Order: sequence, then structure tokens, then C-alpha cells
Amino acid sequence: MSLAKLDSIKDAALAAFKAAPSSKDLYDLKVQYLGKSGSLTEIMKEMATLPKEEKPLFGKRVNEVKQILETAYSEAENALKNAEISSKMAAEELDMTLPAFTRPKGTQHPAAIVVDEIFTIMSRLGYSLRTGPVIEKDYYNFEALNIPADHPAREMQDTFFIDKTHVLRTHTSPIQIHSLENEELPLRVIGTGPVFRCDSDISHLPNFHQIEALCVDEKVSMADLKGTISFFVREFFGAGLKTRFRPSFFPFTEPSAEVDCSCPICKGKGCSLCKHTGWIEIGGCGLVNPKVFQAAKIEYPKWQGFAFGFGVERMAIIKYGIEDIRLFPENDVRFLRQFVK
Ligand code: PHE
Repeated sequence: MSLAKLDSIKDAALAAFKAAPSSKDLYDLKVQYLGKSGSLTEIMKEMATLPKEEKPLFGKRVNEVKQILETAYSEAENALKNAEISSKMAAEELDMTLPAFTRPKGTQHPAAIVVDEIFTIMSRLGYSLRTGPVIEKDYYNFEALNIPADHPAREMQDTFFIDKTHVLRTHTSPIQIHSLENEELPLRVIGTGPVFRCDSDISHLPNFHQIEALCVDEKVSMADLKGTISFFVREFFGAGLKTRFRPSFFPFTEPSAEVDCSCPICKGKGCSLCKHTGWIEIGGCGLVNPKVFQAAKIEYPKWQGFAFGFGVERMAIIKYGIEDIRLFPENDVRFLRQFVK
């Protein structure tokens, strides 16, 4: 009697599982048949009324039915889930032609690109890169470079003072002193990084970048300096641009010169960028002043040297024909994107 009842519960459950229209209905059926107070649990209670010898067979059969129903349940559940996914996919249309969401990629700033290019050229001549502190002691920015306190030469660079003895470095030349103090001779270094001056117009920024070269060896002359700069300028700008050296003055070089490039905007005819001279100044150079060697406790004339320091943004202006130096710190992406390599 009970075995027959068990089989009919099984058949009813299998049929119901198969016919369930949704996962939710199927789950309700599972509770109904296999749950804590479901039909199968109920029928177990009838076991108590059975004669002793029928109990093991009945118990075994209940377990078999439970197994069968559980397997049938998970099969039905899978079938329903697949059907639900397929109908969802059929209903929702995916437009593969829509443009994808893209995040704009960052690129190097043109000033950084120029520094990289310059350093690549100079490293071929055996130069290695140094950066140095941006907040500099008065001693390194001025004193050791033969610019004593209260000397008129300090007027050449409008300075941001931090306190009595510290400044935002006004040039990369203090890197020369750090290298002379700490490195072995002979020496070939490139110093680069941000520098600061109270100055701002179409060709001057208060915060710009410089790149500086220092070469110290046993016999170094003005010819080495001119040869190195000419090589460097030709490699960087290409053969089309003219350069000239003008005698000048820097306290830390003797003799000193300024280096100009022909203006790329007006091609030498005269415009507002080159202040109608046809030339743009890119920086200064000269032979290391013996007073600088003396400050760094280096024996002169056993050791001699040359140095040059150029404005990075100036070089970029000339190379790319940019009309206003103030575009550099503005960080307008329309400007910056033009330099993506
Ligand atoms: N430091 C100088 C300036 O900023 C440039 C310079 C560097 C000149 C090295 C001579 C030698 O104006």
C-alpha cells in the first residue's frame, strides 16, 4: 500500500517538475515534494505503521525516490535557466555597431618629449642625467657659481625666495656644483628639471625647464664647446636651422656666449616671437670659470670644463614652430595632443 503511494508521489513529482513553467514555480514544487513538511517527509512518518519486515525495503525505496527527484529537479532547473537565458537574448538586441566607450590616453608633455630627445642625443656623447633639488640653497644657486650676495649679477635672474638662504632654483646650473662636489673626474653630465623666475610674457614663463650640460676633463677649450653645441643643435633641429654664438657674460663661465637659433616662425624676417630680430635665444654657454672650480675644490688648470644651459620650452618652440610659450603650462589637450608620437 505505502510502496504504491510512494511511487505515485514520485510520478506526480516528476511530471510536475517537467511541466514547471519557471524557476520560481519549480522551486515551489521542490519545497512541496522534498521540503521539510513535503510529501516525501510525510510518507516517512507512515513507516511506523508498517510491519517490521517491510520497514527496510520501504526505507531503501524512499531514499531511491529522493535521489531520483533531486536529479530530476536539477535537470529541470538547468533546462529552465537555459530557456530563460535564450529568451532574454532573443528579446534584447545587442547593437554591435555602436562605438565603444573609450578613455582618453595620457601622453608625454611636449617639454618632457624635448628633454628625452635632448638626453638621447647627449647620451651618445657619454653624458648621463642628473636632476638636483628644486628648492636650492642660496649657496648652490648663486654663491658657488660666483654670484656673491648683493652682487649686481643677481639682477640677471628675478628670484623667488623661500627664506633668507633658500630659493626656487632660477637655473639648472646649481646641478653643476652638486656634480663637481660629489662625482669623479673626468665628468660629463646633463642636468635638467624645472626652474623658476618672476617673469612672464610671450617668450618667458615663471616656471619653465632647462637642460644643462657640464663637461670637465684635462684639456677642454671653446672649440670643444662650439663643436658639442653645433652637433647637438644639428641633431635636435635638423640641418635647416642656423645657429650663432654671441659674446656674453655669465659669472660662472669665462669666456661666455649666448646661443641663438634662426626664428622658425618668420624664418629670420622678424616677428613678435623673435622681437623682430630674426633670432631666438636658446641659452648660454662658456668655459667653466676657475672661481667655480675653486668653490668646488677642484684643481685648475689641471681640470678644465665647459657648460651650456638651454631653455627646454624655447627649444620646443623653435622645433615645432609654436607661437606662444604660455601654451606649455596651460595644459589644453588640443595643444598637447599635437605632440602624441
Ligand atoms: N644658467 C644660465 C642661465 O640660466 C645659462 C648657462 C648655463 C650659461 C651654463 C652658461 C653655462 O641663464
